[in-house]
Amino acid sequence: MSTVDLGSVEAFQILVENFPDMIHSVDAEGKIVYVNKMASRLLGYTTDELLGMNIRQLYPQEILEAVEAGFNEVKQNKTEKQVESQFLAKDGSRIPVELRTLAIRDEQKVFIRTFTVSRDLRKFKEMQDHLIHAGRLAAIGELAAGVVHDLNNPLTAIVMVGELMKNSLDNAEATQQDLRDQTGQFAEIISDSAGVMTGITTRLRDFARGVKEQYQPVDLFEPIHDALFIMDHRLRHANVTVSQKIAKNQHWIVGDRNQMVQVFLNLFGNACDAMDDRETRTLTVEVTPVTTDDKSFWCCTVNDTGMGISQENQERVFASFFTTKPRGKGTGLGLSIVSTILREHGGSIRLESEVDQGTTFFLLLPVKQE
Ligand SMILES: Nc1ncnc2c1ncn2[C@@H]1O[C@H](COP(=O)(O)OP(=O)(O)OP(=O)(O)O)[C@@H](O)[C@H]1O
Ligand SMILES: [Mg+2]
Repeated sequence: MSTVDLGSVEAFQILVENFPDMIHSVDAEGKIVYVNKMASRLLGYTTDELLGMNIRQLYPQEILEAVEAGFNEVKQNKTEKQVESQFLAKDGSRIPVELRTLAIRDEQKVFIRTFTVSRDLRKFKEMQDHLIHAGRLAAIGELAAGVVHDLNNPLTAIVMVGELMKNSLDNAEATQQDLRDQTGQFAEIISDSAGVMTGITTRLRDFARGVKEQYQPVDLFEPIHDALFIMDHRLRHANVTVSQKIAKNQHWIVGDRNQMVQVFLNLFGNACDAMDDRETRTLTVEVTPVTTDDKSFWCCTVNDTGMGISQENQERVFASFFTTKPRGKGTGLGLSIVSTILREHGGSIRLESEVDQGTTFFLLLPVKQE
C-alpha cells in the first residue's frame, strides 16, 4: 500500500471522499458538481445520477422557497451558512439534515461554487422525540400521582363522616334536635370536601387542556378555616392543640380557594405526622403583612412543635417524591404540590426548622390590590 503525504491534495481528496457526513458542491446554477460517497448512501442515488442533477431536485417542494433564499444569500454575500433542512431521497423519504455551507469565490470575489457538509439528523431527531414523549409521560404521571395524593384528604374526611352519621343514627338516645345539628355539621364537611375534590379534578382537566384557572378574591381566613375543619377529626385524634387567631375579612388575595385549602391540608397533615411521638403538640397558624421589594404580601406562618427537619433535608423537602416517611405513609408529593400552587399564585414558600424543636413554614402571597 502506498503511503499518502498527509498534507497533500490527494490526502484531502481521500478525506472528503470518505468523510462520514455527506459533502457536496454546486455551481451558481445549482447544478451538482461534486458529491462524496456518503451522498449516495444517504440519498439512494448513484454518484453519476447525482452529478446530472440540480440541487433543487433534492429538496421537498414546500421548502424550495426557503432553499432559494438561502442559496441567494450564500451566492451574494454570505461566506458561511448553517441551517436545519430536509433532503428528499430517491425513495421519496425525507431526511432531516444539518447543512453547513461555505461559499467559494475567486479573487474578484465572484461566486464559483458552494461546498456543503450535511449531517444526517435522523438518529438525533428520533432520540429527541423519545425524550419529549418520555418527559410528557413523566409530567402526566407526576400530576396523576399528585391528584390521587390530594384526593385522599377530603375523601378520608367524607368516609369518616359517613361512619359518624351511621353511629348517630344507631344511637337510640339521640334526640331529633341532636340529629339535626349533627347532620348539619356533617353536611358542611361533605360539601367542603367535595369542593376541594372538584378543585383538584378541575386542575387536572385544565392542565390537559392548557387552560388557566379563573382566579377570584379569596379571604385567607376561609381556606385556613376549611382545612382545619376538614382535618378536625385527625387533629383531635392526634391530640393536637390548634392556635390561630386569624380574623375574617382582613387578608385578601386573588387566587383559587380550593387550591389554597389543598395547601393548608398538606401543611397541617405534615405537622400532624411530625408531632406524632411528641409530648407537646401545638399547631400555630398566623397571617401578617410584609413588604419585600416594594410589594405587599401576606405572610402565613404554619408552625408545629414536631420533630423538625435536619439541615441536610431542608433543601430537599420541596422536591417531588422526597419523603422520609415509611412506604405506604408518604409519597413525597405534598410540599412539591404546595410550592407549585404558591408559585402559580405569584407567591413562595420557605421554612425554618430545628431538629427536636419544630418547624415553621412561611408562605408569601401577594395582597389583593384595591
Ligand atoms: N412539618 C414538618 N416537620 C418535619 N418534617 C417535615 C414537615 N413537613 C415536611 N417534612 C419533611 O418533608 C418530607 C416531604 O414532605 P411532603 O409533604 O412533600 O411529603 P410526605 O409528607 O413525606 O408525603 P405525602 O405528603 O406525599 O404524603 C417529609 O417526608 C418530611 O420528612
Ligand atoms: Mg406531606
